[in-house]
Amino acid sequence: MEAAVTYKNILTSVKNDFLTITINRPDKLNALNNDTIEEIGKAVVDATNDSSVAGIIITGSGAKAFVAGADISEFLNYSVEDGIKLSEFGQGVFKLIEQCPKPVIAAVNGFALGGGCELAMACHMRIASDNAKFGQPEVNLGLIPGYGGTQRLIHLVGKGKALELLMTADMVDAQTALQLGLVNHVTTQDGLLAKCEEILNKIKTKSPKAIAGIIRSVDANYVDGTDGYKTEVD
Ligand code: COA
Repeated sequence: MEAAVTYKNILTSVKNDFLTITINRPDKLNALNNDTIEEIGKAVVDATNDSSVAGIIITGSGAKAFVAGADISEFLNYSVEDGIKLSEFGQGVFKLIEQCPKPVIAAVNGFALGGGCELAMACHMRIASDNAKFGQPEVNLGLIPGYGGTQRLIHLVGKGKALELLMTADMVDAQTALQLGLVNHVTTQDGLLAKCEEILNKIKTKSPKAIAGIIRSVDANYVDGTDGYKTEVD
């Protein structure tokens, strides 16, 4: 890694060539304020450009939450324009994660609600500890997800279940999330990071170019007007 950058809302550490980004606002259940989203984006860009980083894990601080959503306190007095800006900004950072040419795994260690569920869905895989809970509760506030949740949830769980989760604001536990395809694996709380590292270690033995090509080709399937078969050829 290059010279350490100091962040206010996230912690970064490197182990075995993998960067772990820990969202670190445990007293607010790691709610995503604007600064936190910006810092996550910067850490992901730096890791993308750093040849010594082979993969990224994103997790939350403390035993209770991955991320309990966008920071509600920040946008209470937002105007429509502020809301649009926030949504576009968040979507942009989450796309950076989705399009990162290195594997990005969400280690979901507790509540993944609203923007937290959206952040996890923007990662390439989701590993959940057995206490994790997922949901898109925005509708309880008269809102809808703004960081890609309405789009990515469909791809992971299908349209009918996505609409149910989005319209009822129901939370699902880790085992249900596994059955739905929302998460790849469920582990104990203690085993969460080890499982992420196990998967990243397997990927690390493959060609980074091939891995980047897989991410790009699979993503092409989700980009309107992009021919994924052509992306494969390219
Ligand atoms: N934004 C800002 N602050 C949040 C937050 C969010 N999305 N989620 C939790 N917090 C803060 C609480 O305000 C509280 O702060 P305080 O101690 O200064 O009052 C702290 O985190 C702990 O949360 P609390 O609600 O007391 O914990 P709980 O165990 O009783 O409940 C949740 C946990 C996750 C069920 C509950 O916090 C919740 O429903 N959060 C909002 C989820 C949500 O709607 N997310 C989508 C936003 S669009």
